Amino acid sequence: MSTVYELVEVSKIYRLGSVETIALMDINLKIYRGEYLAIVGPSGSGKSTLLNILGLLDKPSRGKVFLEGKDVSGLSDSEASNIRSRHIGFVFQMFNLVPWLSALENVELASSIARVSRKEAKKRARELLELVGLSHRMHHRPSQLSGGEQQRVAIARALVNNPSVLLADEPTGTLDSVTGAQIVRLLRDLTKQGVTVVAVTHNPDVASVADRTVKLRDGRVVSIE
Ligand SMILES: Nc1ncnc2c1ncn2[C@@H]1O[C@H](COP(=O)(O)OP(=O)(O)O)[C@@H](O)[C@H]1O
Ligand SMILES: [Mg+2]
Repeated sequence: MSTVYELVEVSKIYRLGSVETIALMDINLKIYRGEYLAIVGPSGSGKSTLLNILGLLDKPSRGKVFLEGKDVSGLSDSEASNIRSRHIGFVFQMFNLVPWLSALENVELASSIARVSRKEAKKRARELLELVGLSHRMHHRPSQLSGGEQQRVAIARALVNNPSVLLADEPTGTLDSVTGAQIVRLLRDLTKQGVTVVAVTHNPDVASVADRTVKLRDGRVVSIE
C-alpha cells in the first residue's frame, strides 16, 4: 500500500500569553492511498488541529509531516499553498459557497486559474457536478439548494483540481441523518477512484464506513482500528 501521509512525533502547542494549550502530542500516523480514515474524539481533543496540519494550513510545533514522501513540516506560506492547490481538497461543515454564484460557477471558480483554461475548468466543473448527482441543479444558487445539495457542490468544488487527498471537517455536521448518509456514501465512493479521504466526525455513520478510525483524546491517539 502506498503511503500518502506520514506523521512522525507531531505535536502542536498553542501559546496565548502565558497560557499553553497542548492541542496534539506525539502523533505518529501513516495514511494510505485510497483509504477512508475517520478521526473521532471529544470536542477539544485535537481533531481540527490534526486536519489543519494535514492540510498544510498549520504547522506542527514539533515533529515532521511527510506528504507523498516530501517533508512539508517547515514550508513557507507560498510553498504550502502551492502544494495545497495541487494535492489537497477541503470540505467543511459549513459549505462556504459563494451565495451569488451558481453551483457551476462555484465549482468552476475554485479551479486554479494558472493551470487550467476557462473552458477546461467549466467542462471539469460540469463533470464533477454530474459525479455528485447534481447535473439538474448546475444553475441554481446555494439558497436554492438543500443542505445536502450544497454539500455536494462543496465536494465537487474540493475535487476540481484533482487532489489526491480530500480533507473533511464534520462534513455531515449540519445535515439530517439520511442526507448525511448520502454524503458519506459519496465520499466513500471517491476512494474507489484512488482519492484518500480523511474525515473528522461526530457521526457514527461516517466512522462506520471508514477503513480505519483514529480516536483522539487530549491531543493523543488512544486507538487506531
Ligand atoms: N488557534 C488556537 N489557539 C489556541 N488554542 C487553540 C487554537 N486552536 C485550537 N486550540 C485548542 O487546542 C485544542 C484542540 O482544539 P481542536 O483541534 O479545535 O479540537 P477539536 O476539533 O477536536 O474540537 C483545544 O483545547 C482548543 O481550545
Ligand atoms: Mg473541530
